[in-house]
Amino acid sequence: MIEIRQIEKSYNELEVLRDISLKVEAGQKIALIGPSGSGKSTLLRLMNGLESPNSGQILFEGKDIFESKFSLSRHRQDVGMIFQQFNLFDHLNVLANCNIGQEKVLKLSKKEATEVSMKFLEKVGMKDFAHSNVNMLSGGQKQRVAIARALAMNPKVLLFDEPTSALDPQMVEEVLKVIEDLAASGLTMVIVTHEMQFAFDVADTIYFMKDGVIVEHNSPQELLSNPQQESTKAFLNKFIK
Ligand SMILES: Nc1ncnc2c1ncn2[C@@H]1O[C@H](COP(=O)(O)OP(=O)(O)O)[C@@H](O)[C@H]1O
Ligand SMILES: [Mg+2]
Repeated sequence: MIEIRQIEKSYNELEVLRDISLKVEAGQKIALIGPSGSGKSTLLRLMNGLESPNSGQILFEGKDIFESKFSLSRHRQDVGMIFQQFNLFDHLNVLANCNIGQEKVLKLSKKEATEVSMKFLEKVGMKDFAHSNVNMLSGGQKQRVAIARALAMNPKVLLFDEPTSALDPQMVEEVLKVIEDLAASGLTMVIVTHEMQFAFDVADTIYFMKDGVIVEHNSPQELLSNPQQESTKAFLNKFIK
């Protein structure tokens, strides 16, 4: 579904990604782990075309997303993104947040959009808050709304960038549960997370990144029981006692 070929990315002098290649197959759940600053967010932003690489290619369903005739706005419907800071519109209520993309981008009527939004708000346990002001919600509730909003665009892939890092500890579980349910539903997902237990439970493949390179990748069991690189061992040891 997504194929990344030998991506290099720099910001001025700073090399952020070096020779990154990976494939995301339909239905796959990939977790990206690694220390802060290793380039995980940059890689996700490249996947949905929010950034462009210095060299290398990103193919989506076989098409180069940085070719001039490829529609990046269409691509961002296919590849949804969930951010650490939710990125909801604070001046709109929950329902309007979920409707706005459908109305503006998918050109659905308000009635049609509302039907879709309510379906996904129910799925994330936020239906009763449809008419609430976003400011009144907890972080966990906001993130569940952000997930419903992303699902309402009918994406083929969802990219999660540390979806629970901004949450109080007691709210982490409710969001992870929603993401686990989505994973079980067959959606293709790429998840950047520091929640190791979650990554090991949900992902079929884990990529460990450090200093802009993929150090190694493997199934959760293999990576945990048999890490090949010292830096992988050192990173995992910090999380797993
Ligand atoms: N827009 C930007 N301009 C300049 N440097 C950036 C920008 N975005 C990220 N970086 C730098 O790129 C490196 C990787 O960042 P990032 O992809 O956010 O890593 P991670 O998500 O793994 O913490 C960091 O050194 C960061 O400071
Ligand atoms: Mg990041």
